[in-house]
Amino acid sequence: MSTSLTRRFEKEYLDDLNSPERYEKILSDLVRVFTVIKRYEAAMSKLEPIVWQLAARRKSNEPIRVLEVGGGLGGFTAHFLKWAAQRDIELDYTFTDINEHGLKLAKKRLLTGQIGKGSVIKIEKFDARDLDKTAPQSFDLVIGLLLLHHIADDEEVIKFFKKVDRVSTSLFFYDSERSWRGLIGTWLALRAFRVCKGLKHDGVLSFRRSYTIPELIDLLERTNLNYLEIGKIKPWELCVRGIKQ
Ligand SMILES: C[S@@+](CC[C@H](N)C(=O)[O-])C[C@H]1O[C@@H](n2cnc3c(N)ncnc32)[C@H](O)[C@@H]1O
Repeated sequence: MSTSLTRRFEKEYLDDLNSPERYEKILSDLVRVFTVIKRYEAAMSKLEPIVWQLAARRKSNEPIRVLEVGGGLGGFTAHFLKWAAQRDIELDYTFTDINEHGLKLAKKRLLTGQIGKGSVIKIEKFDARDLDKTAPQSFDLVIGLLLLHHIADDEEVIKFFKKVDRVSTSLFFYDSERSWRGLIGTWLALRAFRVCKGLKHDGVLSFRRSYTIPELIDLLERTNLNYLEIGKIKPWELCVRGIKQ
């Protein structure tokens, strides 16, 4: 099947900060689907090697400083916090998103979920593009799920990775890989799961806004950050990840 699915740039419904109810419906359905089809486990399996390396480098009593950008309703965050708690890995976790309504909902989920002994969580409004306003090397790990395609513009994405590099030792970004197979598979899955209209719209559009692997390879080369690598996540996702040695 051809992989030349044209890239699209229209905004998703999720990008509209003035429709909190629609945002809530879309992301609640996304968390439900991602939980059932075990996407958080898939993401964690690619993030895990970085977390273990950070844990090995950490001095005793020093938690791993994590910044999550575009965290949505905290579906992955809850999974990560629980994973770390079960392994006695302490996290100093800053959960952020640009959408204030989402933060209120995430707060409920995260403050009632499992947080390990010695771990702390802060929840703040933050635009991921403002990372240059953050002090250098403030974090050990910066993560974002399904965020890159919201930044979308190539030059912005290159700048974004450079900003992340300035503030953190490692990074992990999970996103869709633009392809016909992923687009059709997602279209079918969203109908099978009877998700809201908004997610049917955004789910398919987000595939079209995402990068292909060759496009991302080119972008990462232009960042000159040679510790970054691309991982494929079956069936049709990818991650950009890396840790400075
Ligand atoms: C597709 S959702 C993914 C949410 C969550 N990471 C997940 O996987 O369930 C994208 C999220 O990115 C947020 N977002 C979009 N642009 C952003 C930006 N510039 N800075 C921070 N968050 C942003 C949106 O508000 C939304 O919550």
